[in-house]
Amino acid sequence: MKNVVVLGSTGSVGRNALNVLSNFADRFNVFGLSSNTNIGLFKEQIERFKPKRVAITDEESFQGFIDSLRSLQERENETEVFFGMDGLKKLCSDPEVDLVINALVGAVGLLPSLATIESGKGLAIANKETLVMAGDLLTQKAKEKNVKILPIDSEHSAILQCLLSGKKNEVKRLILTASGGPFLKRKKKDWKNIKVNEALSHPTWEMGKKITVDSATLMNKGLEVIEAHWLFDMPAFKIKVLIHPQSIVHSMVEFVDGSLIAQMSIPDMRIPIQYALFYPERLPTNNKPLNLTQIKTLSFFEPDQKKFPGLEICYQALEMGGTAPAVLSAANEIVVKAFLEEKISFADICRIVKKTLKKHEVVENPNLDDILNADRWAREEANRQINIKDRTLE
Ligand SMILES: NC(=O)c1ccc[n+]([C@@H]2O[C@H](COP(=O)([O-])OP(=O)(O)OC[C@H]3O[C@@H](n4cnc5c(N)ncnc54)[C@H](OP(=O)(O)O)[C@@H]3O)[C@@H](O)[C@H]2O)c1
Repeated sequence: MKNVVVLGSTGSVGRNALNVLSNFADRFNVFGLSSNTNIGLFKEQIERFKPKRVAITDEESFQGFIDSLRSLQERENETEVFFGMDGLKKLCSDPEVDLVINALVGAVGLLPSLATIESGKGLAIANKETLVMAGDLLTQKAKEKNVKILPIDSEHSAILQCLLSGKKNEVKRLILTASGGPFLKRKKKDWKNIKVNEALSHPTWEMGKKITVDSATLMNKGLEVIEAHWLFDMPAFKIKVLIHPQSIVHSMVEFVDGSLIAQMSIPDMRIPIQYALFYPERLPTNNKPLNLTQIKTLSFFEPDQKKFPGLEICYQALEMGGTAPAVLSAANEIVVKAFLEEKISFADICRIVKKTLKKHEVVENPNLDDILNADRWAREEANRQINIKDRTLE
């Protein structure tokens, strides 16, 4: 029986993770959960899974939660409730915990990931921003502590599975697939008119808002290239992206003998989550099987880098190295939020990220403080650019 913490249990990946864990209640105990603002759902999850400890990061939500418990006189002998970033770190490093599933969105996932690794727990990670901003630091620490970081992202789970077909020196390249998002066929000149609800309607996956917008700009795939670089210790030139609108082939590995190994399934996050939980074992489930005769066609084509500059910006950040990927990721978080709040257009997203990255003075071999400083600087700079009324002057 393993004690598991799910960080971000109220999110899309978090909910899927709890669904998988509930199918294997004889193997996993839900020990801890975390939420930011969705307290209604969080209470239902606490009621159902009865975790020993939980954390809430948003102050108002935390206070409201504590008050509601007080009024119900339910506090004694109930779940212990922690607050904020310290609360997340306490959850991850609790001596009773065996495995942490990090399903937080954004840079907020970094310190909990580090706390997990430093206390020698298993880490199953969906929170790609963490690996983008501090991949070197996290993978070095994981080596030191003998912790295997297991990917939950479907593409990286696919790569992990395909890599089992050969040795590392036999790999020619990794091929990450991308659905291409909702704007594959939309003309670039129309991008400034894209509405938030259009960017949020992903053709094949149901996900949180940030990753859905990232998929529409293809920035998500670029972040995944950086994630793959760190997870699989592969240089950028050996990581390629192909558009595959059906989202059936989740990624591929090409070997030096010309063999291409692909991992396929219906698009369902419970599959990579379960793989990470039991790696390298496979256990039967009731998930819908893939019926290729129904799918009929699988198509692949090169991404249009001119139309979707997000991908190229990510390759650039990886090449710049040091603190550049942290700046890229933080700036992207800020501009995606601004787009969702209708402060900037869809076309501004990549433009502002690119400008922010260009202004950054890279710190080589950054330590944690350098990374956190770069993150802060990028947020300020991206916000400054969002607030410039006439962006053509910049
Ligand atoms: N969704 C997918 O299918 C998918 C696939 C592959 C990878 N990923 C990656 O997995 C991560 C999570 O994605 P998601 O789609 O599950 O996101 P999501 O649905 O937006 O969920 C995010 C979770 O993080 C919590 N959270 C948000 N802001 C927070 C903050 N400032 N402090 C602490 N907690 C915070 C949310 O809490 P509340 O809801 O309580 O506010 C929620 O539990 C992302 O890095 C994404 O790129 C997602």
